[in-house]
Parts: sequence; C-alpha cells; structure tokens
Amino acid sequence: MSEAGRVRIVVPPVPGDAYDVIVERGGLARLGSLCAEAAPAHAYALISDSRVAELYGRAALDSLGETGQRTELFVFPAGEWNKSRQAWAELSDALLSAGFGRDTVVVGLGGGVTGDLAGFVAATFMRGVPVVQVPTTVLAMVDSAVGGKTGVDAHDAKNAIGSFHHPALVLADPDLLVTLAPFQRTAGLAESVKMAAMRDAGLFEWIASSAPELRDGDPDAITRLIAQSVGLKAAVVEADPKENGERAILNFGHTAGHALETLSGFSLLHGEAVAQGMRLEARLGERVGLTEGGTADRLDVVLAACGLPLELDPDLTSRGILDAAGSDKKAREGALRWSIPARIGEAARTESGAWTHSIQASRCESELGAALRTASEVPDSLA
Ligand SMILES: NC(=O)c1ccc[n+]([C@@H]2O[C@H](COP(=O)([O-])OP(=O)(O)OC[C@H]3O[C@@H](n4cnc5c(N)ncnc54)[C@H](O)[C@@H]3O)[C@@H](O)[C@H]2O)c1
Ligand SMILES: [Zn+2]
Repeated sequence: MSEAGRVRIVVPPVPGDAYDVIVERGGLARLGSLCAEAAPAHAYALISDSRVAELYGRAALDSLGETGQRTELFVFPAGEWNKSRQAWAELSDALLSAGFGRDTVVVGLGGGVTGDLAGFVAATFMRGVPVVQVPTTVLAMVDSAVGGKTGVDAHDAKNAIGSFHHPALVLADPDLLVTLAPFQRTAGLAESVKMAAMRDAGLFEWIASSAPELRDGDPDAITRLIAQSVGLKAAVVEADPKENGERAILNFGHTAGHALETLSGFSLLHGEAVAQGMRLEARLGERVGLTEGGTADRLDVVLAACGLPLELDPDLTSRGILDAAGSDKKAREGALRWSIPARIGEAARTESGAWTHSIQASRCESELGAALRTASEVPDSLA
C-alpha cells in the first residue's frame, strides 16, 4: 500500500485471525459502520485520553452510535505517566460499574499511550474482549496501533506489564493529525525512520527526500508515510507476530531509547528518545563492527531533516544508560540485546541468523561511552 487504502494483516498461526488496517482521510466518520462489520458487539466502550476525548470523542461516539448499540466514552488523563496499572484498574472498574460485559468491544481513540492502555484493558477485561484501534498521533498511526502489543509501564520499566492482543480493526484517519502539536508529529516520524533504516532502504530515501513536507505535516506526504509504514510493519508482524525473531528489528533505538526516556523523567517524548537511541546504537554498531561506517551520520542527517532534536543531555553516562536499560524488558539473563542496522535498509544478524546482538558487558560500557561522546558533537549544520 503506497497510498491511502486498506492493508490486511494475517497474524499466524491462528486461522481467521486477520485484521484490516484502513488508512483513510475522513475515515473517522465511518467508524461505526466499519466496527459493525469488523467488530460487531452489543456495547462499545470508547477509551480516550482527556485531550483527544475533547477533540474527537463526540465525533467518534456519534459514528459508533450508528451501530444502534450502546456506546459510552471512558476518559483517562493524557500523558505517558498515565500508562499505568492504576489507569488500567480505574478504566476496568469503570467498565464494570457501567455494566459492560463480555459482549463489549473496546475502541481505543488516541495516541500510543491510549492504544497500549485501551488494548491492555481489552486484553484482560472478562479474560479478553476485542479491541479496535483508532490512532490519532503520527506515532500511533505509523507504528503502535498495528501489531498487537499492549501494556502499561511499571515504575521505571517501560511496557513491563502487558500482553499481545491483536486488534480486530485499525482505522487511521490522517485528518485527525491537524490538531497535533508539531513536536508530537516529528517525534512520530522517528518510528518510521527506524523501520526504514532496518528493512527498507527505498522508504528511507523517500523519507529523506520528503522530510520538509513530513516535518511540516503536509497531509499527502503524511498519508503516504502512514500507508508505507503500515505495510512495512505488517510484513514484519506477519513474519513474527510474538517477537521470537525478526520483529526484534523494530526495537532499533529502543534499548538505549527506553533508558533515555526513563532517565529524562518522560520530559523526552517516546519518539524523541528513540531518535536519540538510534543515534547512539548506530554508533555503537559501527564501533563493534556490526554496522557499516557512515550509517550513523546518514541517520543524523535524516532525523535532523525530519525536525527531531539531536542534542543529548550532557549529564548522560554510558553506565547510567546501561543501568537504566537493565530494567528494560529486553534484558534477557542479564545481557542486553541490541537490534542494530548492518547498513541503511538492512538489519545486522548474527552468524547463526539471530536478529539481536549481545555485547560483552565491559566492552559495551566503553564503546557506548565512546558512542555517546561522538553523538554529543552535533555538527552546527544539523543542530
Ligand atoms: N504498542 C506498540 O507497538 C508501540 C510502539 C511504539 C510506541 N508505543 C508506545 O506509544 C507511546 C507513545 O505514543 P504517542 O507518542 O502517540 O503519545 P500519546 O498517546 O501520549 O500522545 C501524545 C499527546 O498528543 C495528544 N494527542 C493525541 N492525538 C492528538 C490529536 N490528534 N490532536 C491533538 N492532540 C493529540 C495526546 O493527548 C497526548 O497528550 C509510548 O508509551 C510508547 O511506549 C507502543
Ligand atoms: Zn517505539
């Protein structure tokens, strides 16, 4: 799918467990009819954060009302720090108090926080009810709404509690992005750069040449980016729905990125932290011989052109990053796993074909330290 349209994702191994991702300008008006087709239910529980509920809650409820079924809006306060067990419990309790039961479909209307939280409510409510994802940020449209990862953060461990729960339908309406703050838009672009850097050199070059339009939110460019990113993510998720192999490539930038996000006390947006994480990890990859020289510099140019802030917090140390990354769920038997490109458009694999790499602890600390020093020298032309 290179333009707006429909992608069908077949998630093996469960037969019939396929879902459509629809990218359609103005599509929110068709939410009700699309739900009636793809996720029929007697009750629709619309979950949204306070900001998105104010902007689009009414329109979503009106459209869902066309199903003729019960519809109700459940709101939680906007912000990453509300992707929490407490918010999950409060929403689940609210659904129960309102008398919602097994015949419910949860509809998550919002950014990645809402999608992850609403998805986890759906995954656990009455042992699991279907979820429809209606992403409203660039990040959620290009990445998080597709693929079935749901969950909440534990104190200092991002996404530590969660489950795979694939949606029954994803409806991305790029027109909803007009109200999104520009810095939120550019943060979302980081996830597309990530996917392209690991698997699609053609998309990477298209992003590079379209960066001015993407940064400015040109609707045609953004719609095309969403459609292409969804197609790419769908291929990865179909190949490896539960992240036993290739899907790990989508974690490029996230081992360091999650650490930076946590260390910043969430003052860095997720996408910004991922962009900085990619800068560090590509340099680390170059230093340990996994990544072709020049890859990190090329990434810097494209991330800067997309409007992402490249400057790193001067107080960061490699030890601090590794400690913070140690509580990340991707830590396995104490050893961090890194997903790193071999070159733009291709993931580095181990000799045995694995998609992630472990780097011996003391070497990792010194090489990451060196990567941190070079990444901190942002050329004036990119600052
Ligand atoms: N499940 C996955 O596979 C996956 C993948 C990538 C990221 N994530 C998660 O996604 C989260 C980040 O998502 P995000 O960046 O979308 O953050 P977010 O959901 O917090 O949204 C950012 C802000 O924008 C506001 N907003 C949303 N849509 C808007 C609109 N159309 N107009 C105006 N304001 C709007 C929200 O209220 C919020 O304040 C992180 O928690 C990350 O871990 C999950
Ligand atoms: Zn991410």
